[in-house]
Amino acid sequence: MAEIKRSGTNNFPCICIYIITFWNNIHISAEHEFTANYSKSLLHAVPKKLATETVVLDLSHNTISKLHTSDFRYLTKLQVLILSYNNISQLDFSVFQYNEDLEHLDLSHNNLRTLSCHPVGRLRYLDLSYNNYTAMTVCPEFSRMVQLERLGLSARRIQKSDFTVLAHLQLDSLFLGLEDLSEYSPGHLLMFNVKSLRIVLPTNTEFPVVLDLNLTDTESLELSNIQGKQVNVIKEFLSKLNKNGKLLNLTLNNIEVSWKNITVMFQYVWQSSIEYFTVHDVTILEIIPQPLSYTNTSLKALTIKDTKLKYMIFDQHAVYQTFADMNIKALTISNSQMVYMVCPSNPSSFTYLCFSNNTLSNTGFEGCNNLKLLETLILQKNQFKELDKVSSMTSHMKSLKYLDLSQNLLQYKDNQNGCYWGGNLAQLNLSFNRLSDLVFSCLPINIQVLDLQNNDIASVSEEMVELTSLKELNLASNRLTDLPGCGRFSSLRWLNVEMNSIFSQASKFLQSCENIKKLKGGHNPFTCSCELRQFINLRKNDFVELVDWPESYMCEYPDDLRGLLLKDFHVSEIVCNTNLLIAVVLITTVVLAVTVSLLCIWFDIPWYLKMLWQWSQVKHRGWKNNTEVLVNNVEFHAFISYSECDCDWVKNVLIPNLEKEDGSIRICQHERNFVAGKSIVENIIDCIEKSYKSIFVLSPNFVQSEWCHYELYFAHHKLFSENADNLILILLESIPAYIIPAKYHQLKAVMAKRTYLEWPKEKSKQGLFWANLRASIHVKLSGNEEMRVLW
Ligand SMILES: *[C@@H]1O[C@H](CO)[C@@H](O)[C@H](O)[C@H]1NC(C)=O
Repeated sequence: MAEIKRSGTNNFPCICIYIITFWNNIHISAEHEFTANYSKSLLHAVPKKLATETVVLDLSHNTISKLHTSDFRYLTKLQVLILSYNNISQLDFSVFQYNEDLEHLDLSHNNLRTLSCHPVGRLRYLDLSYNNYTAMTVCPEFSRMVQLERLGLSARRIQKSDFTVLAHLQLDSLFLGLEDLSEYSPGHLLMFNVKSLRIVLPTNTEFPVVLDLNLTDTESLELSNIQGKQVNVIKEFLSKLNKNGKLLNLTLNNIEVSWKNITVMFQYVWQSSIEYFTVHDVTILEIIPQPLSYTNTSLKALTIKDTKLKYMIFDQHAVYQTFADMNIKALTISNSQMVYMVCPSNPSSFTYLCFSNNTLSNTGFEGCNNLKLLETLILQKNQFKELDKVSSMTSHMKSLKYLDLSQNLLQYKDNQNGCYWGGNLAQLNLSFNRLSDLVFSCLPINIQVLDLQNNDIASVSEEMVELTSLKELNLASNRLTDLPGCGRFSSLRWLNVEMNSIFSQASKFLQSCENIKKLKGGHNPFTCSCELRQFINLRKNDFVELVDWPESYMCEYPDDLRGLLLKDFHVSEIVCNTNLLIAVVLITTVVLAVTVSLLCIWFDIPWYLKMLWQWSQVKHRGWKNNTEVLVNNVEFHAFISYSECDCDWVKNVLIPNLEKEDGSIRICQHERNFVAGKSIVENIIDCIEKSYKSIFVLSPNFVQSEWCHYELYFAHHKLFSENADNLILILLESIPAYIIPAKYHQLKAVMAKRTYLEWPKEKSKQGLFWANLRASIHVKLSGNEEMRVLW
């Protein structure tokens, strides 16, 4: 069968006809869920216990010799069964009687001698070619296989009756492998209702099988194995073709022929109904150029592939001129040792020329004005070296749209001459060459698709002509170290940069490539660091689609991350952004500071801390001094000095709170404890001397009081003389420094030291205040009992 392969903007999908060995173009989807592949598994028998859902079963290339009903009975879903290249010598078709869905059965290349026929109604494809039976085995039951579309047979002997059954089948394609034909009586091949017929001709060239073909319905004919006398048979066959026939495609395969004979064949084909003519795998014995008449042809495309020349010395120019002047649309001469091509002598009808895989280093097309219709030129896999010369070769091809120069030896060294591309070149394939960065100054201006993969490009220069139409750019497998920008290609949609040396830079790309839809960037040695986030973000922001994400994108550096998928590489914004980091630290600090300050203000924490500190100091001191040690001559825990104006607070708040009901704390108050007969001063001094501590209630009023000053002075004096800190200051109201008269040095000094207890207005704090105060005056007094009696 012929498989159509498109190449580039090929207008003639059928030109490149690839002959695929026999029935190999069965389309069995390899990804099929229920495919069981046991090919080349050294099996001697059909494996047991296959999945019952199996739809496709490949048992080819084993040594299976027998088939049993039980092998397949449970495979009720089986549609495709491939048994080619085994050792099966006997087959009863009834083994498949339970496989009602079986459509495709390949039994080629076995050892079948006999077939016992049982109709397999649903078969659409049946290959029985290359077995061991001598006669063409066509069961009468085959005529009941109404769905059969493709059939493959081969035989050593062809008898009269063999094809009567076949004549009733309406087949799409029929393959006849007749290499080993050893018995044949001419006139026995009947007509088939076959669209596509492929015949491998007998090696015994005496049998003119082809001449007995009746090809009323056949559109496509492929003849293989044409040697010796078969050449004459073919010539005769071709001479009988006429313009009114149905035959459109003719392929001659594996043919050994002289140039003279091939010209004769061309001549017949030129005058027939054939539109697509392919000569494949041809050995040319001798070349003596022959004239060829081109008039009145139906031929559209000629393909010559895989030519071997027995002699290289011939008039090449005459031969090439024969091809160049052909009045057809498409010409392919590939893998045929072609050395050069010549310009057609007249304006040519070629729209498609393919000279791939030859040794061209130069066409004869420089200054050639006769290829004005040429749209596609394929020069893949030749030996072109200079890009500027190739460009000027195209300069007169006004219609040229597609040029394939891949797999050559092209280089471009900046020279003064510049490049002159012809036509409106939209697609240019320069892949697999030796082009450097300089190639960007030698490109066709209207190019839309440019393939530069596998070259030697290290960077995309920003100093080049603007390629405003460029939509697709392939730079895979070059030496790029960063993603190129799109400054010069404003319409770029698709960019391929895989397999370069790109590690992370994406900034140029981000700035200028807003039109890119797809980026293929895998298999680069990415450095997984902060910079890489730009690249990963390309995807996250839906900026572009990353082709082959995530499996092709891996960290290469640093070493400990090698092999990690970029998808799994996470680094937080803050680690990467120094400004952000500083900002965050600053903000946190400020917020913390403000919070702490607010908390302090709200709950007056410093006040509590101070109180707790004082309290702990007192406790500590008490513990150190061992409060159990009694102080002689002390009757009271404290003497209280205050201004008359503050007496309300002292009497109603301070004293009641200090003197608990149990009487454990005694206070000397000059009004209460005064001894009659003594002066007030004597009384006060007496009181202070009998008290363990002196409490001064400080307030602006206090500062005004002479008495107070005197008391303070006295107390201070005692403080120093006895080296004891017997002074407790309570700040009832704050005293601005300016209202303390200058002469009160003592008071000022005490105030400055700030060793006083502040009276808190808030109820919640007063508990701590009292605890503190009590702790500092608490001491065990010696005259406890007597004093109580005395009162
Ligand atoms: C260019 O040619 C190479 C090899 O010859 C091929 O693989 C590639 O697909 C071609 N590019 C285009 C865009 O057709």
